[in-house]
Amino acid sequence: MSVQIKKAVFPVAGMGTRFLPATKACPKEMLPVVDKPLIQYAVEEAIAAGITDLIFVTSWTKRPIEDHFDKNFELEYKLEEAGKKELLNTVRNILPKGVNCFYVRQQEALGLGHAVLCAKDIVGDEPFVVLLADDMIYCDETACLDTMINLANEDASSVVAVEQVPMEKVNKYGVIDPIDLSDRLYKLQGVVEKPPVEEAPSNLSIVGRYVLQPRIFELLENTQRGAGNEIQLTDAIAALLEEQAIYAYEFDGIRYDCGSKLGHMKANVEYALRHPELNGAFREYLKGIVS
Ligand code: UTP
Repeated sequence: MSVQIKKAVFPVAGMGTRFLPATKACPKEMLPVVDKPLIQYAVEEAIAAGITDLIFVTSWTKRPIEDHFDKNFELEYKLEEAGKKELLNTVRNILPKGVNCFYVRQQEALGLGHAVLCAKDIVGDEPFVVLLADDMIYCDETACLDTMINLANEDASSVVAVEQVPMEKVNKYGVIDPIDLSDRLYKLQGVVEKPPVEEAPSNLSIVGRYVLQPRIFELLENTQRGAGNEIQLTDAIAALLEEQAIYAYEFDGIRYDCGSKLGHMKANVEYALRHPELNGAFREYLKGIVS
């Protein structure tokens, strides 16, 4: 029986060490791509896929995320007084009406699996999605999350998003052992976190979008520390696979790894080229410096 998926978990409690010193006091998820922080893109993507409850798994260094989604009376007052209506609407409408935010603290950065487990009591006994804001997904037509939710709803299964990576880089990712089902759709027969290149079952790596059944929480409670001495979501997914079907969707789009400096720079350049206000001037500027 299909249940409407309304809850999204955003694990944002990581330390962001690849982006130090920028992330010493500023959450990685608040780094901007053009004029919006990464977390806002992820939230907009979730809302576009029908999500109404946003659950942020935060830590003590991540307060700006809460502030970003809260009201800023002083700023709104000043913008109103100055007649800056467009900007006022921009800051007022970051979240549409009917969308709720919940915050829960991960007290120690014990890994992505542990961060997801922190959301257990808020999610309850229903399927949910997980979005990693530092994985930015740009999709032209078939929106990645929408398709994943529809797939999961067909038979109450879980679905992970995957992309092909060069074989020599598979040891950085969660990698699936796939059975081809149809164009862009696979059934998992195994999954492993950061396998040695020579042992990797494929070059299909999991990217930061998941639709998960609530059984994952019980499995996470029993998941021991794995790769990197962290409680890995991938290990709990491997345990879930023993009991339930899990699919992988190779989305048609671009993933920017904004947790890395290079990925973040690429996202900024490409989103600036797509941005109506910057497109012309920025394109000219780029042409000038590369020629
Ligand atoms: P990453 O490994 O990409 O993020 O975790 P990180 O640990 O913040 O970054 P580096 O590797 O040190 O640069 C993937 C996602 O899981 C969250 C992160 O915030 C990120 O969105 N995460 C990770 C947690 O919420 N808690 C953790 O303990 C670990």
